[in-house]
Amino acid sequence: METVFITGGAGFIGSRLTGLLAQRYRVVAYDSLLPQVHGGNPDNRARFEAAGGKLIKGDVRDRAALQDALAQVAPAIVVHLASETGTGQSYDFVGRYCEVNVGGTANLVEAIRAVGSVRRVLLASSRAVYGEGACVGPDGRPAAAVERRPADIAVGDYAPHDATGLRLNPVPTDAVTCPVAPASIYASTKLMQEFLLRQAFWGTPVGVGVLRMQNVFGEGQSLNNPYTGVLSIFVRQIQEGLALRLYEDGNAVRDFIHVDDVARAFLALAEVPQLPERAIDIGSGETVSLLDVSRRLLAMLGAAPDRFEITGEFRPGDIRHAVADISAARTMLGWRPQVSLEAGLQRLVEWSRVPAV
Ligand SMILES: NC(=O)c1ccc[n+]([C@@H]2O[C@H](COP(=O)([O-])OP(=O)(O)OC[C@H]3O[C@@H](n4cnc5c(N)ncnc54)[C@H](O)[C@@H]3O)[C@@H](O)[C@H]2O)c1
Repeated sequence: METVFITGGAGFIGSRLTGLLAQRYRVVAYDSLLPQVHGGNPDNRARFEAAGGKLIKGDVRDRAALQDALAQVAPAIVVHLASETGTGQSYDFVGRYCEVNVGGTANLVEAIRAVGSVRRVLLASSRAVYGEGACVGPDGRPAAAVERRPADIAVGDYAPHDATGLRLNPVPTDAVTCPVAPASIYASTKLMQEFLLRQAFWGTPVGVGVLRMQNVFGEGQSLNNPYTGVLSIFVRQIQEGLALRLYEDGNAVRDFIHVDDVARAFLALAEVPQLPERAIDIGSGETVSLLDVSRRLLAMLGAAPDRFEITGEFRPGDIRHAVADISAARTMLGWRPQVSLEAGLQRLVEWSRVPAV
């Protein structure tokens, strides 16, 4: 039986992936059990252990410990999930984000080179690397969106614009056609992870696979961590009797993909005979506004339908419109999303009602 080594394997996505892999592989996670992620949320670690995963507690910043762990395990496949993940928080902890996300990936490269057993390394990247994402101009031709400007926002124009100020229309984003333009420290570190892995293993027998994921949601995503998972944050706020605060006019849109679908995408990437050389976009391929999804959660949790506030506020680095073009995932991985937004929200809400042990 081959071994899969998952950095960050005891987390939200990693524990789900372990459940899928464990029937066919030996799974070892290397995870620091970050208190911000695991504190008050034992479910993911418990899920990981129940699936038979073996945990090596360690930090990707610790180069020697990471090398030792890989040498002990001699995996055939490495899945790199360990990261600092909060976009907003990344502005305040630039050094830590770079040390964990960039330095940790560099350490992983060296450990993989040293062990010599690895044939495939898979990375959890993010749609954040695109910034605003793919857009077309009024003539329908692709156009590059720049970061949104306070002057447009001030007059209630939240749409993306090009560098000349022309208003653009967002379209589904595909890695081959949409240029990268990270708009946050977090996004820059995720893009750097992609570059490091591709460049380090270019022309070697180690294949590199990259998934750029939209907003992943579902049961297990911490309700206590204020920095990640907008739907978990909304659920928590509704349960605490707070009004949901929606930025801009509430009509920013997102593409939410359930964590089980993301785990299936990693499994497909681990096993596809020909590893795609391009990054693969993973999402539902469908959009929902934050206002709409808030209303659905309020209804599911039995809260007053108007318990939200549209603040008009703009957070620098926030994007307006996120949706994946998932055709490459369909054709190259044979993958498609299977959990609808409605079913996924229902599962998240049910889980949120069960007190953590
Ligand atoms: N959840 C999303 O919406 C989303 C979207 C796009 C990309 N991603 C990427 O997917 C990956 C997994 O995300 P997740 O949602 O499962 O997050 P998560 O926080 O639940 O899991 C990350 C795991 O990494 C561990 N970890 C953090 N820092 C570490 C370190 N220095 N050394 C070792 N382990 C460390 C944590 O303890 C945690 O178990 C991340 O790389 C993230 O950037 C997530």
